[in-house]
Amino acid sequence: MNQKRLHLAIQKSGRLAERSLELVRKAGFRVNKSASDLAYSVENAPIDIWCVRDDDIPTFVANGVADLGIVGRNVLAERAAGGGDGVREIMPLGFGRCRLCIAGPERFEYRGPGSLNGLRIATTYPNLLTQFLSAAGVQAEIVTMSGAVEVAPRLKLADLICDLVSTGATLEANGLAAFETVMEGEATLVRSTRELDPDLERLLESLSSRFRGVCASQDAKYVMMNAPRSALPRIAEILPGAGAPTVLELAGRDDAVAVHAVCQESVFWETLEALKEAGASAILVLSIEKLM
Ligand code: PRP
Ligand code: ZN
Repeated sequence: MNQKRLHLAIQKSGRLAERSLELVRKAGFRVNKSASDLAYSVENAPIDIWCVRDDDIPTFVANGVADLGIVGRNVLAERAAGGGDGVREIMPLGFGRCRLCIAGPERFEYRGPGSLNGLRIATTYPNLLTQFLSAAGVQAEIVTMSGAVEVAPRLKLADLICDLVSTGATLEANGLAAFETVMEGEATLVRSTRELDPDLERLLESLSSRFRGVCASQDAKYVMMNAPRSALPRIAEILPGAGAPTVLELAGRDDAVAVHAVCQESVFWETLEALKEAGASAILVLSIEKLM
């Protein structure tokens, strides 16, 4: 029996945890929780999933504990800014968007990076913050923490913090406000730069291609409508990210056709209104389950 298994590391709890598992499921992998809660095994493919702290994921992937990981680009960038290697981004995954921000008490008056001179800033991203400060020519003291950075100003451990902001709920709950963006982030799929066993490499490629399909179909829609033949050029212009649409005959009609297209970008009500204005009728927008 073949015992080789591919190891994927995902965040144990936090902003990316749920969506990471959802992505794995949508890609057609049936996951079973292991007894420990810290791992899942995939039933229909030789894949194991480790649930770990997001900050540890690049290190685990770099040193071979995991072959692949789903992690915020900010965490990856922090490792790279510290000179760490061994991890490579495969593709962005379109969820978990956030900003790495400098934030402080709501009453703090920020007038550009110069306002940071001489202050203490607590963060779990010391390398990215160092880069930002030196690019801005600012002298500030960095207090490196391993979590719960948002409490630092209240405990007088620091004047300000540099942390991830997604919904803003954490900042608000702690009476803090963001006033500077250091970098934008989102979840990305990363892999180890080491050479894998050929079977595992093939499996990794198939997993990435399925993930790519799930991400592409997220916003994609199948759009159908009837339209006057003369309106075709205008309709092709309006359809977002559609390429060349399929044009079909309508029985008994010479002047009108049916138009079908896969739109790779969101189809908004405004798009439908524009199509109608161009002469389209019976417009249908359908979700796409899979796309490759
Ligand atoms: C980040 C950050 C905040 C939270 C912000 O944590 O440290 O705690 O997300 O999100 P919000 O703006 O929606 O409130 P992360 O997911 O990296 O988990 P960790 O701190 O446990 O590593
Ligand atoms: Zn984190």
